Amino acid sequence: MELSFNFDQEPDSRRLDLTAIAQALPPGAHIYCCGPLPMLAAYEQATAGLPPGCVHMEYFAAKEAAATDGGFVVELARSGKTVQVRAGQTILDSLIAGGVEPPYSCQEGICGTCEVRVMAGIPDHRDLVLSSAEKAANDRIMVCCSGSKTPKLVLDL
Ligand code: FES
Repeated sequence: MELSFNFDQEPDSRRLDLTAIAQALPPGAHIYCCGPLPMLAAYEQATAGLPPGCVHMEYFAAKEAAATDGGFVVELARSGKTVQVRAGQTILDSLIAGGVEPPYSCQEGICGTCEVRVMAGIPDHRDLVLSSAEKAANDRIMVCCSGSKTPKLVLDL
């Protein structure tokens, strides 16, 4: 195993050539990256031509703001409860205020702890956990940061 360090804000430093790394991968190889947003943006660009299932990344912070426009209802399929999500609140805020507390941790859409199955409605995905294909399926949501594109979401809670 070989280990090398690259620093891009040091005298005589050179930036890690992510494009060269991505292009040199054998077919079917998986590539992983975690780090700050600018580095992950460069990584996403460098790996754009690879199969999405082979590209993995982990963010340290949210990329976009949580959905807090509100104005929709969340129906909880198991309990039959309905929770109104008001402006300024996330779905998680509204659930907790309504006495329902699903598991959660980061509250930034990066850990996946708060994932809930969507039974009806279209989420406004704001997380960094689900892939583009998973978001397009609209069958799960991170309730800490994502909202709704429809007047009602039915969740498996
Ligand atoms: S609590 Fe981490 S993604 Fe929602």
